Amino acid sequence: MPIIQVERLTKTFGTLVAVNDISFDVEEGMIFGFLGPNGAGKTTTISILCTLLSPTSGRTLIAGFDCMREPAKVRKSIGIVFQDTTLDKDLTAYENLVFHAYLYSLPKAERRERVDAVLRFVDLYDRKDDLVRKFSGGMKRRLEVARGLLHRPRVLFLDEPTLGLDPQSRSNLWEFITELPKKHNVTIFMTTHYMEEAEVCDRIAIIDHGKIIAMDSPEELKKMVGGDVVSITTTDNARARHDIEHLFRMNVAEKENALYVTCSRGDTCIPELIRTLGERVLSVRIQRPTLNDVFLKLTGKTIRDEEVSGNDSIRASIRAHRRR
Ligand SMILES: Nc1ncnc2c1ncn2[C@@H]1O[C@H](COP(=O)(O)OP(=O)(O)O)[C@@H](O)[C@H]1O
Ligand SMILES: [Mg+2]
Repeated sequence: MPIIQVERLTKTFGTLVAVNDISFDVEEGMIFGFLGPNGAGKTTTISILCTLLSPTSGRTLIAGFDCMREPAKVRKSIGIVFQDTTLDKDLTAYENLVFHAYLYSLPKAERRERVDAVLRFVDLYDRKDDLVRKFSGGMKRRLEVARGLLHRPRVLFLDEPTLGLDPQSRSNLWEFITELPKKHNVTIFMTTHYMEEAEVCDRIAIIDHGKIIAMDSPEELKKMVGGDVVSITTTDNARARHDIEHLFRMNVAEKENALYVTCSRGDTCIPELIRTLGERVLSVRIQRPTLNDVFLKLTGKTIRDEEVSGNDSIRASIRAHRRR
């Protein structure tokens, strides 16, 4: 039985359809990712799965428990790390975790041992007696992951876990997260709008405007782009283009003095191209498709576009503020 089951889930806010009739399953032990731009419906979906929000229609089950009918059992089965921190900044790291252990009525004899174990796992054991207010963003997020694991949930939900962290803390956090399924016997359900972060997932659902538009492993999704893109510059592009089109029967695009050939496997295609074009070749470059290319192919826009326009609106509001 899949650990997460979602059947025809829909959530509307007034006339806005935030989640639009989505269905999917997640198998136990996986890292499953929801990838999509801001406003796609990621947080709404995760909130319903965590029993924090009720759906307009559809059914969701975690570890076989219905999120609507058996919310208490669902909550015992899950750990949550959300965008806004809920740590108590005036308590130490250790106190925050012990408080959580009380909330989940962990057996007294095990409390201390389990708290120590998760603190060690996220590399915060040495700082356990420091107040959380002294922690960096990355340390706080790691402490939240530790807290999410304390009651040994079957599923850990992470909503944009690296949002607001610097690149170093982001990559540190990913190291912890990718070790979780094996070390803690937990399934990960995470959301992100960073395509490069979604690469760590075993399976990804790409979501846009409340709809799942593709779902597969990162490798399979990238195959949808149609292969690798090989760019070549030559001494005579017109002749080279003619030769490639005739000998390989491939479509060639020409842009800024370079030829672009899409081939299923760039590593085997390049030697053939060089053999054919001989000394006319000046440079060759291979570009593997990214998840952003997949999103572009499916929607005609890039995930980043949305991010940039978001930044633009932040900049605009800063400018407006300064003028006052
Ligand atoms: N409580 C709410 N009331 C009204 N609209 C909401 C509410 N929560 C989310 N939305 C809207 O639903 C859509 C999906 O939001 P959300 O799930 O937060 O997207 P994401 O997490 O992918 O950025 C957005 O258009 C958002 O403005
Ligand atoms: Mg969100």
